[in-house]
Amino acid sequence: MLNVGIIGLGGIARSHCEAIATLDDVRVLAVADLLEEPRQRYMRQYDIPRGYASHTELLQDDDVDAVAVVLGHQLHHRLTIDSLNAGKHVLVEKPMALSLEHCDAMIAAADANNRKLMVGLTQHFYPTSITAKSILDSGELGPVITAVCYMSKNWNHADRRPQYRSRFHGGGMLLANGVHVVDRLTWLMGSQAVSVSAAIGTHAHYQASDDSDVIFVRYKNGRAGVAVAVGFADGASDYSGQVICANGTLKFSHHYEEYVRVGKGDVWEDVPFTRPPAEFTDEWRAFAESIARDIEPPTHGPYARHIMEILFAAEQSAITGREVLLEGGTEWTHQTSGTPIHPDHGWV
Ligand SMILES: NC(=O)c1ccc[n+]([C@@H]2O[C@H](COP(=O)([O-])OP(=O)(O)OC[C@H]3O[C@@H](n4cnc5c(N)ncnc54)[C@H](O)[C@@H]3O)[C@@H](O)[C@H]2O)c1
Repeated sequence: MLNVGIIGLGGIARSHCEAIATLDDVRVLAVADLLEEPRQRYMRQYDIPRGYASHTELLQDDDVDAVAVVLGHQLHHRLTIDSLNAGKHVLVEKPMALSLEHCDAMIAAADANNRKLMVGLTQHFYPTSITAKSILDSGELGPVITAVCYMSKNWNHADRRPQYRSRFHGGGMLLANGVHVVDRLTWLMGSQAVSVSAAIGTHAHYQASDDSDVIFVRYKNGRAGVAVAVGFADGASDYSGQVICANGTLKFSHHYEEYVRVGKGDVWEDVPFTRPPAEFTDEWRAFAESIARDIEPPTHGPYARHIMEILFAAEQSAITGREVLLEGGTEWTHQTSGTPIHPDHGWV
């Protein structure tokens, strides 16, 4: 049994608790939040035996094997390192951290303590995206030429906590949601990014962070793709992705509209995929599996760092108006997890 502690009981902690409740070999043993009300509510609602008023207290609980860091972006770095140093495996929510130096320190802490570090890049766990990715990996559509991925949705400005509307605190569309789109694009392209150019702005709201991002990414395999992330004031959401391969086309969406379609002979055909969506369950299954089998988690630290490298380069490009070359990143190895990233799908 993997005993989990959840740190931060805001909105999305609910999805983590509900997902874990469906798994036989994982349970939430403890929660921590500075606020009494959510702590009591979560303990009552999900039958969680232990509640702590701070993450430091939770980390002293020797029965907790792994923690989920589920709070504001500016806290991901410090709390992940404290948790790893306390001997816990960590699943930290996206975005990984607010600088590459912080990402590096988190990866180093995982290595030094011999603990697993996974980042909650949920795009890898939607049934539609898993189906789309396995079609691409099967080779039936030929090599990927380009992909365009969207996440356009209502920014919900009035209900959004102030920290998520301030870039200084790690907020804005790019870090909150653009991270998902760039991750999805990079995963589909199956290659390491080498350069980025972007237009990033605040066009629909009065706030101290962006709400609109258009990002062009070149990959090591010589191909390129586009990520569009816009938090509008009114409209209809689009979470779709479209991939053009040499011998076929593919489009899919996992929110609001759910579909996977393959195009051949000028006809789009629906492809079946598993329902209901269980992205948080599959994320926890993959994390637990990586601990039990001592294998690399699918959305591991170096991969998530690379996604942050693309996002920070996009910000730099938007300021300078120039294409920004990336540093080259880690020497990627083939994935070995047996989870949704295809085991044979290494970085080209
Ligand atoms: N993967 C996804 O699809 C997805 C979706 C939504 C949110 N998220 C991410 O989840 C994270 C949390 O988002 P949210 O909206 O649920 O958070 P939130 O800001 O609503 O809540 C954070 C909670 O943490 C508590 N807290 C703050 N500091 C603490 C500390 N030191 N110790 C214990 N508790 C502390 C606060 O009291 C609050 O209850 C963010 O990184 C966000 O980007 C991911």
